[in-house]
Amino acid sequence: MFGTALTDAASIDGEIMTSRFVIGARLVSGIGLAAAWALLAYAGGASAQQRPSDWIVPDVTTLSDSPANQLIRKGRELVVATPSLIGPNVGDASKRFAGNNLSCSNCHLSAGTRKFGLPLFGLAHLFPQYSARKGGEITIEDRVNSCMTRSLNGREMPDTAPEMRALVAYIDFLSTNVAKGETLPGLGAGSMPELARAADPARGSVIFGNSCAACHGTDGLGVRRSLPTTDLGYMVPPLWGADSFNNGAGMGRLSVAANFIHFNMPHGTDYSSPRLSVEDAWDVAAFMLSHERPVKPGLERDFPDLLLKPVETPYGPYADGFGVDQHRYGPFGPIRQEIDRLKQNPPPPAPR
Ligand code: HEC
Ligand code: HEC
Repeated sequence: MFGTALTDAASIDGEIMTSRFVIGARLVSGIGLAAAWALLAYAGGASAQQRPSDWIVPDVTTLSDSPANQLIRKGRELVVATPSLIGPNVGDASKRFAGNNLSCSNCHLSAGTRKFGLPLFGLAHLFPQYSARKGGEITIEDRVNSCMTRSLNGREMPDTAPEMRALVAYIDFLSTNVAKGETLPGLGAGSMPELARAADPARGSVIFGNSCAACHGTDGLGVRRSLPTTDLGYMVPPLWGADSFNNGAGMGRLSVAANFIHFNMPHGTDYSSPRLSVEDAWDVAAFMLSHERPVKPGLERDFPDLLLKPVETPYGPYADGFGVDQHRYGPFGPIRQEIDRLKQNPPPPAPR
């Protein structure tokens, strides 16, 4: 029933899981980066005892051949070989849900089982949940569709589509033995300290040349698998351009991209020993996001309450008066302060 245990140093989990709280404190009090790291180390030690038990990756290969288990296996296949099943070039046009040739697992690493590699484990009980982007509650199917329409630059799958049922069955399966109310450590892409300055795409281009171009290509467009048979997606995915995620995707937000890169890239990096420095990760993420990518129409309708819009959302409108460049590259501290002020003193209603 069970495969590999995730055996990671407890103190490291503690550090990463508490860092968001510590960074918040740093912004308010204005203490420096070194002090923030000292706090981080302290918080890590303090929280290690309360850490939930390790989660075990359930293994699909040992499942019996029941219809329910076939659906789970199909879901895993959809995650790792997305373009060959629902990509823009599949024979059956009614199955062309994705608009690019990325696989879910290009971002949700190791088929969604990698801590801080945007895992898909432990999510089943967290939905339905409130989404500030929508301004209302969303189901797990809605969340999958938000990656379909943004990360995969495609169209929504009906809730009843066999592919949607398979993806949800696999996501449920990855929560096997996770108790309701338990939040597993390692969700998301991690949370490293922010820079006090704007992230610098020019500095990032040098880091890209040294640490990324060998795989993703000097043009950033990745390497297709076995051309001219294009239906199996990429050996190395593109980071920008027409076949990349669109500007409404989660990876299009600097903090998500920078943390993902810090804790997972170059490919094979484990979050417990990042290879890029914090500063380099912010700058190379800025370089990646400074390039052209598909534009999603209608993004101005996201986040109906603009005070709940993440400060690093790369598209307007904004409530705070800061320009799009600062929202894309930072520094984010001043924007967050202004949002806090607006939350406490909402502007009077506009005269009619
Ligand atoms: C380009 C990268 C990328 C691709 C490809 C991608 N996703 Fe995502 N996905 C993300 C990011 C980034 C987030 C977290 C976004 C955020 O923090 O707002 C996310 C979040 C999710 C979540 C919610 C996770 C949570 O922690 O709450 C689910 C479920 C999900 N994706 C499913 C999928 C599925 C299924 C596919 C393939 C059909 C897919 N994604 C393809 C980047 C991607
Ligand atoms: C050793 C090869 C290699 C190197 C070096 C590397 N990557 Fe990747 N990268 C990959 C592969 C392969 C994937 C897809 C992950 C998978 O499918 O398991 C990926 C995925 C990604 C993704 C998410 C998918 C997407 O297309 O958006 C981002 C973002 C990314 N890499 C950024 C970087 C950056 C920035 C660097 C340099 C700091 C870097 N990578 C270095 C191989 C590499």
